[in-house]
Amino acid sequence: MKIGIFDSGIGGLSVLHEAYHQLPGQEYIFYADTKHVPYGLKTTEQIMGYAIEITEFLIAQGVQAIVIACNTATSVAVKELRKRYSLPILGMEPAVKPAVEETDKKRIMVIATPVTIREDKLKDLLHRVDEEHRVDLLPMPKLVEFAEREEFESEAVREYIENQFSAFDKDEYSALVLGCTHFNYFKPLYREYFGKDTLLVDGNLGTIRHLADVAKLPLSDDPDRVVLFDDYHNMLYDSKTTYYFSGTIVKDENTLEHLKRLHNRLEEVRKIN
Ligand code: DGL
Repeated sequence: MKIGIFDSGIGGLSVLHEAYHQLPGQEYIFYADTKHVPYGLKTTEQIMGYAIEITEFLIAQGVQAIVIACNTATSVAVKELRKRYSLPILGMEPAVKPAVEETDKKRIMVIATPVTIREDKLKDLLHRVDEEHRVDLLPMPKLVEFAEREEFESEAVREYIENQFSAFDKDEYSALVLGCTHFNYFKPLYREYFGKDTLLVDGNLGTIRHLADVAKLPLSDDPDRVVLFDDYHNMLYDSKTTYYFSGTIVKDENTLEHLKRLHNRLEEVRKIN
């Protein structure tokens, strides 16, 4: 099956990476809207426009299902996209429900973009699942920029994370929800900051399982096999993926090497939960 996965940038690669684990043997088109990243600081109208344009592009490439691998674009556009187009369109939202279910009493921190935090979709979700008012919301838009620059462990990113969290008492938190797909790259830093007892929860596995269910695709019987690439050719052909950056196919060696490094980073951090 041909599956389209899109995001404002490289955050969505973490969703594609999980798809490599869970749904090997499918054909993927990955679209990063690198001309317009970050979405988290744009207006609702702008994000809606980008999401419609990308969806039409992916449909024109013949995809049979689309994953919006972006919490921000989902909160703005998923309803409208489903109204306009008949193929299955899956969205993402911060994984608050599993965080509430898997932890007891202590607080839960949701980090996301400012757009995700201000849109009604997240408020509705909290209304449904956060009955005990355990959830705190924290925007962290700069992590998107750090990720796009492939800056995952620098002093500057460490300082930013510590500053943002410093208004909260870290010992009160039993879970940190990664409500933006770009935030997966920084898992070692959250683990270092919060210690080993705080759960790190992202929505990637849930999203891919949902896709398998909706599209009736068989899940892998070996989902934890190692997915590391020593050569970008393997990345393209083993997993049959075509990459686009804002409508332009990615063919140059430097960019493909960059994507390969990102997949390898995602493999390294995947088991930090
Ligand atoms: N990766 C996106 C998300 O999941 C948005 C990042 C951005 O462009 O601000 O929300």
